[in-house]
Amino acid sequence: MSTFDIATIAGDGIGPEVVGSAITLIEKTLHNTGDSIRWTEYPFGGGHYLKTGEILNKESELALKKHQAIFLGAIGHPQVKPGIVETGVLLHLRFAFDQYINLRPVKLYPGVVTPLAGKTPADIDYVVVRENTGGLYCGVGGSTMSGFPDESVTQVAMYTRHQVERCLRYAFETAMKRPRKTLALVGKSNVLTHLFGLWTRCFHEMGERDYPQVKREYYHVDAAAMFMVSNPEKFDVMVTTNMFGDILTDIGATTQGGMGMAASGNINPDRTAPSMFEPVHGSAPDIAGQNKANPIATWQSARMMLDFLGATNSAQKLEDAIVQTMQSGIQGLSTDAITARGLSFI
Ligand code: IPM
Ligand code: MG
Repeated sequence: MSTFDIATIAGDGIGPEVVGSAITLIEKTLHNTGDSIRWTEYPFGGGHYLKTGEILNKESELALKKHQAIFLGAIGHPQVKPGIVETGVLLHLRFAFDQYINLRPVKLYPGVVTPLAGKTPADIDYVVVRENTGGLYCGVGGSTMSGFPDESVTQVAMYTRHQVERCLRYAFETAMKRPRKTLALVGKSNVLTHLFGLWTRCFHEMGERDYPQVKREYYHVDAAAMFMVSNPEKFDVMVTTNMFGDILTDIGATTQGGMGMAASGNINPDRTAPSMFEPVHGSAPDIAGQNKANPIATWQSARMMLDFLGATNSAQKLEDAIVQTMQSGIQGLSTDAITARGLSFI
């Protein structure tokens, strides 16, 4: 019997609704196992910024760091300039807590409609390991002659061997746990020769030396985007850079039934700071507060969090409840009705 210490950042828009729904399910799941969670709510996001002027100060960061994990809904507010809270909260926490993996399962559940004609749950079941702190997100670059005709800018995709190797290791370990044991590196080695020269060398060195059981494949990112739509059954585990992973996982989300279905874990595999679990979707202000949001992506993220915490039985129960809820059909149901449905399967 364990007590887990979790921070919640419900955030903006539909964030509080989907987080509330997931917490109800988690509580019931845990109740049956004897484990429990101590939840501590934090107010960060666009709404909080508008009210207080605070994005996330050092003190709050240190308070968050004391928890075992962070459960986040969505942040982003129509009255706040795009980028401010995304960078100040989401990206800041990824960097501050060295959450260098963004794990994003792409899985089509039975009963869910995919836009890919003829594809079934047997065809769409892979995970994307997105490098989460480096590459184009590292902030290196600058501009000159701002506002003049010769204005020029750079934005550099930087990777160290250390960053590449630790991400690849996580990806190989993930592949080892899956029956197909197939890892695809996704890059653009025909053009971005420096960047993907390093990724490719490290990939094959590590694979050959430490993971001979894992089948290695390589795809250029444009081809991978195409195959995710035409032949998603090709993929088992995919590993890629931060920017490519950001783009590809939105394609993946669409193929699994939309953003309401896509979960993610911002993971610090070394556990030197909390990992953070969140649905891939945003705050959807247009439907906020209307009991319309699909909470499944957040349930999925909760399932990943329970797994990460070692509450594997509860994680499995939640997974089973998700499958049954989706099988029962949730089209047109309110958030509360979907939650009630989920609860009935636990
Ligand atoms: C995501 C989002 C973020 C990202 C934004 C909101 C900064 O698109 O989690 O995929 O680019 O990583
Ligand atoms: Mg994104």
